[in-house]
Parts: sequence; C-alpha cells; structure tokens
Amino acid sequence: MSASSQPTPDNAGKPIRRVTIADIAKMHADGVRIAMLTAYDYPTARVVDEAGIPMILVGDSLGMVMLGYEETVRVSMDEMLHHTKAVVRGTRHSLVVGDMPFLSYGVTPEQSLANAGRFISEAGAQAVKVEGGVRSARTIETIARAGIPVMGHIGLTPQSVHGLGGHRVQGKTIESARKLLADAFAVQEAGAFAVVLELVPTELAAAITERLKIPTIGIGAGVGCSGQVQVITDLLGLTYGFIPRHAKQYEHIAQRMTEAVSAYAADVESGAFPATENSSSMDQAVLDEVLGAGALDRATAAALEGAEPIPLDRDL
Ligand code: KIV
Repeated sequence: MSASSQPTPDNAGKPIRRVTIADIAKMHADGVRIAMLTAYDYPTARVVDEAGIPMILVGDSLGMVMLGYEETVRVSMDEMLHHTKAVVRGTRHSLVVGDMPFLSYGVTPEQSLANAGRFISEAGAQAVKVEGGVRSARTIETIARAGIPVMGHIGLTPQSVHGLGGHRVQGKTIESARKLLADAFAVQEAGAFAVVLELVPTELAAAITERLKIPTIGIGAGVGCSGQVQVITDLLGLTYGFIPRHAKQYEHIAQRMTEAVSAYAADVESGAFPATENSSSMDQAVLDEVLGAGALDRATAAALEGAEPIPLDRDL
C-alpha cells in the first residue's frame, strides 16, 4: 500500500488534522499497511510529517544514532523529552510516540505513570512506547487506564539486550516462540493500541499478526506485520556504526553532506563564497561619510589635487 493511501496532509485547503489511534485502528481494519519512522529533531520531523507518514517514533535509539552513546540504556528522560518536544514542534499530521527510556517505567506503577504523563503533558506526544510483554503488562495497563495510548514492544527489546544475549532474532525455538505469543497477547490485553515486533522470524510475526486485534509494527519481522518501523538514519545512510540487516538504505545522506561541506570549504578558500547574492551592500555616500571621505571632502580633495591633504578636525 502506498503512502498515498494513508491519511496524508490535505493540500486542498482543509486544515491538517493529527492522526489518532482511532485512525491507526481504522487503517489496520482496512488492511492498509502502516509506515512508521523514527525522528529525533525538528527538521527531520518536518520532512517525515510532510511526507505523510502517519506515526513517528522518537525512539530511544536517539542515544546511539544522534547522541553517540554506545547503548540505548544511557538515554535519560530529560534527553527523550527534549527531543520529543522538537519532533512535536515539527509535526502537524503524524501521531508522535515517545519511547520511554530504560528504568523510566516498571519500577513502580506511580513512577511509570508519572513519566508517561511527562511525554504527553510536557513534550506534547500523543502516545508512549514501552518495552516488554508479560513483564510489562501491569505497566501498560496502568498507563493506558490513565488515558495515555501505549505502544508495546516485544521480541528483541534493546533495553534488555544484555539479558537476551545480544542482538539476535527472538522466538526461533518452541519455548521462545510460545513466550513471544504470550507476550503479544499480554500487551494487547493490557490495553496497548499497537505492538512493535523486533527481530522476529517472518512466519512467527505473521502468525502473531493474524491472531491479534491490534496492529503489529515490524522491524526485522518480515512482511506479514500490519506495518513497519525503521530508524530514519539507517534509511537515509546517516548511521555511524552497526547497520542491521533488516534496514534498507534509500539514500546516502552522510556522503552527500560530506560532499556539500567540502564544497563549502573549497569555496571559502577560493573566495567563491560568499558571492554578491549572499551579501548585502550599502549606500556609498553613507560609507564615505563614515570613513571621512564624504562628497564635500572629495570636492576639496579634487581642488587640492597634487597638494598635501589638509587634515580635518575629525582626523586629528
Ligand atoms: O528506539 C527505537 O528506535 C525503537 C525502534 C527500533 C522500534 O525502539
């Protein structure tokens, strides 16, 4: 299904309305595949929003792809809120989901709800995402019952990557596949409006998708999910370090940025930049006056051509 079949900004003069979780449910019911992307800043959010992407995730992948941390668990609530605010300011159409960072939830229900609430009331997001299936069901229930839409996230959950033994596909054995199915149902029963399936075999992800009422959003989980999410820097070629196999690179932005920056440096060195169109000019008479070479002074100078210039008071 193309982006044009998704609720896109209306160019025909109608006011742009933000996508709601009811719109997401309708897309799912209508069999429209849902495209989701991460964004972490104002200009990228504008691009993604104006392209008509219905859901934007301010993922805690922020920590690795934008802030240069080695792991997502280093990201703080304050960093997530700061970037979520920028993304919200850059969007008018997309539903913005704020990713709850490591240990900002699941310690106590009160703490989970308070932090989820900050994404909504302080940062202006419309939903939050929480990692974990059965283990996070109570947290999801607490937040959803308070009226905050929650997206679940099961399979490979990067915040517990050490416990999962690295970035590996989840659910390949009978036991782990059963656990994943149980996680999916737990998230749905707890009241999530959608669930991310990360690094799950295509067949299992499709089976989970068929059995759930809520949409599944896959990342490395095959084409049988209700939608897909990708990290935007992977898509654009702006990720430094590890790029997962499931990512498809549509552009080479880092390379193009390097070329642009080098061209700028060369222009500065050669004097080609700034050109006249990048500069402003002023009335020559004003400048002459300021520099002590006004029209009067020039006339005097012409009359005395050849003679020693007489110093003016202001030159002394
Ligand atoms: O943080 C993130 O970007 C995510 C996606 C990979 C789903 O959680």
